[in-house]
Amino acid sequence: MPNKILVVDADSASRGFIVQKLLGQNNEVIEAGSGKEGLILAWRDRPELIIADPTMTDLRGEDFAKKLKNDARTAQVPLIALSSDSNPERIKACLKMGFNEYITKSGQAVPLLMSTIQRLLELDENAMKQGGKLIVFLSAKGGTGTSSLCANLALNLADVEPSARVAVADFVLPIGSIAPIVGYDGSVNIVHVADQLHRIVSAQSSLNQLPEMRDWKFNLLAGSPDPEMSNLLKVEHMWDIVTSLKQAYDYVLIDIGRSLSKITLPLIQHADLVTLLISTDTSTLSLTKILLDYLKNKGVQEDSIYTILNRAAGLEGLSKAEAQSKLGITINATIPYLNTNLAFANSQHQPFTSKFPHDTAGVIFREIAKDMVGKREKLAVT
Ligand SMILES: Nc1ncnc2c1ncn2[C@@H]1O[C@H](COP(=O)(O)OP(=O)(O)O)[C@@H](O)[C@H]1O
Ligand SMILES: [Mg+2]
Repeated sequence: MPNKILVVDADSASRGFIVQKLLGQNNEVIEAGSGKEGLILAWRDRPELIIADPTMTDLRGEDFAKKLKNDARTAQVPLIALSSDSNPERIKACLKMGFNEYITKSGQAVPLLMSTIQRLLELDENAMKQGGKLIVFLSAKGGTGTSSLCANLALNLADVEPSARVAVADFVLPIGSIAPIVGYDGSVNIVHVADQLHRIVSAQSSLNQLPEMRDWKFNLLAGSPDPEMSNLLKVEHMWDIVTSLKQAYDYVLIDIGRSLSKITLPLIQHADLVTLLISTDTSTLSLTKILLDYLKNKGVQEDSIYTILNRAAGLEGLSKAEAQSKLGITINATIPYLNTNLAFANSQHQPFTSKFPHDTAGVIFREIAKDMVGKREKLAVT
């Protein structure tokens, strides 16, 4: 995957040289000849990494770094200083003000620069590979039962693995719906946490101590409570929120709903299991087919997808066999129409199995949770 890199250097010959080297490594490169132009491009074009010569004509390099690190859009973007100034005091000042690395322009600069870029970008990828397991829930259409099942399967997962810490995060925009299902009306939500993330320590501790939903046996990172809040969401911090959650919990379940976007796609690509909710009406099926083809195209492995056919609408619709052949995949689990019972349990903020302990669907939920854990483990081995 090419990385988008911004190069800021007042010396056009030096800048051109670095740009050529980066292009040769298949990167996408944007360039700026001044500090101010660099800031504008960094905030507008959102590079994944920035290389800047701190000796600038219009700004102090230190101030340039400080501005980037204090802005939510670029706070997490790795910043490398590449300079002919080898004064130790200057190096110290630059590193203090936000440059992650300082490389002096010399014969060895290019290989060092390349390995540094590699390391800084991989840090990000590696963080996602560590910690607990990531399970995302999505559907091609609203009303497919994604949120209800995310919450109820999270509870069942906690029951299947009593020693595991389970977190549920609601990434559905513009309004999350897990909080109303589980009856949480506190103020901790993704918008607040994302906003705190430039103060990494406070964000980390709020992610560690997410409110506990006692009846549900999981900790919740609630979604945006309304569209107004959703507009304030610092989406560039979603990745770091997930890597921090993985540090703190054994299972991180994320309700993505049908909010497939530039922000949620990388999470789907890095998930240990992608739970796809399907209903059997023709319109959902054709949307699901498009979604599946798209995900495959984006490198999501078919066997990391766990498909659940959920008869949320009560219409018989197509049979499981018909759905499978239309989608060209195997359906892993089926949930029958539960009448108004699931909606009723949701409205009482209770897990389905607590509200209707004798309903056989409770057994199905439990089996699905077990099966998901099993499938995940099988994937981890192969
Ligand atoms: N198998 C089912 N049987 C009956 N009702 C269901 C079933 N699955 C979901 N529902 C109901 O359908 C509605 C939409 O579910 P929800 O979980 O909000 O879907 P989504 O998050 O995909 O939009 C809710 O009222 C829910 O209780
Ligand atoms: Mg939903």
